[in-house]
Amino acid sequence: MSFNFSRTLILQRLADGQFHSGEVLGQELGLSRAAVSKHIKGLCELGLDIFRVTGKGYRLAKSLTLLEHRKIAQLLPQVMQSQINVQNVIDSTNQFIRDMNVKPSNGYVCLAEAQTAGRGRRGRTWVSPYGSSIYMSMFWSFAGGYQAINGLSLVIGIAVVKALQTLSVKGAMLKWPNDVYLQDKKLAGILVEVEGQMGAACDCILGVGLNIDLPKKALNIDQPWTDLVQATGLTIDRNVLAATLIDELTKALTIFETQGLRPFISQWAELDYFYDKPVKLMIGNQCVYGKVKGIDNDGALLLEKDGKIETFHGGEISVRPA
Ligand code: BTN
Repeated sequence: MSFNFSRTLILQRLADGQFHSGEVLGQELGLSRAAVSKHIKGLCELGLDIFRVTGKGYRLAKSLTLLEHRKIAQLLPQVMQSQINVQNVIDSTNQFIRDMNVKPSNGYVCLAEAQTAGRGRRGRTWVSPYGSSIYMSMFWSFAGGYQAINGLSLVIGIAVVKALQTLSVKGAMLKWPNDVYLQDKKLAGILVEVEGQMGAACDCILGVGLNIDLPKKALNIDQPWTDLVQATGLTIDRNVLAATLIDELTKALTIFETQGLRPFISQWAELDYFYDKPVKLMIGNQCVYGKVKGIDNDGALLLEKDGKIETFHGGEISVRPA
């Protein structure tokens, strides 16, 4: 029995949020009590909140619904079911797709319970504790090459908000180019990684990290964040959310592939959290101050500066006071 397999079996038992004695767990899984204790320590290192009470055993601080391929697949059309790969603990779902030996088909998805090297935009780390978020990447290749992906990351953001709306989460908005905000804090981030030669198809790995119920102990996250449970009090089934995200992303990308950004411009306007607000745009080491005036037809940011509208294709909006 491999180390990770033992951990998975222990976690499947602890997922009910009840006490399980180390002795019984050991007997059921053919492990010594010391081995059980070592695996529990390993699970805690992945961000799980497990505590031990003498005479009762181990317990998860709250019950946990694990991701299951079967539960996600049954909510999706048959053609998509074999396109979903649910992993346990991996470095990064984006990296998993990048490392595949065979190029996947459009819509192929990798989901994980935890990431040990989750990536954010601009070289940042995406903190990825076990079982508390959605960590998901989808593959899509655009035959039209680089010019066919203008505005792609905005479209992913819109699809994420639509998935949330489908599940009755109200009030999610977007910060250009693609952060999802809820109640003034970041709820989800999107990382688009692109590979392709000029004049050839453009292969994209579209990563989404969406906070659901992060551990309340100190997490090393460098900006104000929220999660769905904290912000809405709703009980979220991650399998249902994963399936809804896959469905919305697939629908949006199918439209985007043939029609580009045009059908999404009015949707962006409805979800543009910082429209008409003063912001600071960081471009490398430079700062530009202005008022957000939406996007152009390529998805570039429009900022009003000294009474004139200027267009910006890159950079990061900061809402912190100048
Ligand atoms: C951001 O900085 O806002 C983007 C965060 C993107 C995180 C997701 S989690 C799934 C996928 N795999 C990764 O390593 N990163 C993305």
